Amino acid sequence: MSFHPLMPYGSEGFQKSERTLMARGEPFAFTAERAAKLEDICSKYPPERRKSAVLAALYLVQEQQQYITASAMRHVAEFLRITPAEVEDVATYYVMFFKAPVGKYVLQVCRTLSCALAGAERVTETLSEKLGIGIGETDPSGMFTLLEFECLGACDRAPVVMVNNEHWHEKARPETCAKLVDDLRQRGLSALSGCHLKVEQ
Ligand code: FES
Repeated sequence: MSFHPLMPYGSEGFQKSERTLMARGEPFAFTAERAAKLEDICSKYPPERRKSAVLAALYLVQEQQQYITASAMRHVAEFLRITPAEVEDVATYYVMFFKAPVGKYVLQVCRTLSCALAGAERVTETLSEKLGIGIGETDPSGMFTLLEFECLGACDRAPVVMVNNEHWHEKARPETCAKLVDDLRQRGLSALSGCHLKVEQ
């Protein structure tokens, strides 16, 4: 038997799972281009190991419709010849897969120690005020979602804001966050360095 740090102990017994099932969503099928791309990825594995491509498949789902739905997971399962439960295990384990609609730009502020010490909380507060939303919410324009994240591996450039799972805004400061939002609105992802090895000016 294993224990989770958040599991309540004592005579009350074990906590009943509060997991909510993923929304079914619209019927889903990969575009022909993405299906071909995924088939190419699958071909790199032995036929009996097609499921090794499940992460790539989920990224392709997200690329196509921004977030993961039950319909999409079922399609991925059929594509990879595994069960929907196996796909769900992966989709719900990794935080980079969104389970609900998100904005065009997902701003994820690192809240782990180095970033926290460097003022990540102020960064999150400023973004929250600028966008008029709380953590986990999407602004009314549907353009921005604000989330917190754990260490992004760029601690020497803390605090770090990751945009759309792959672009970095480093050494973020509350006073520059409003500009970050405005720049993204005006210039899109080209407003970011896109690489944690570059320092933005
Ligand atoms: S603690 Fe934020 S990037 Fe490592």
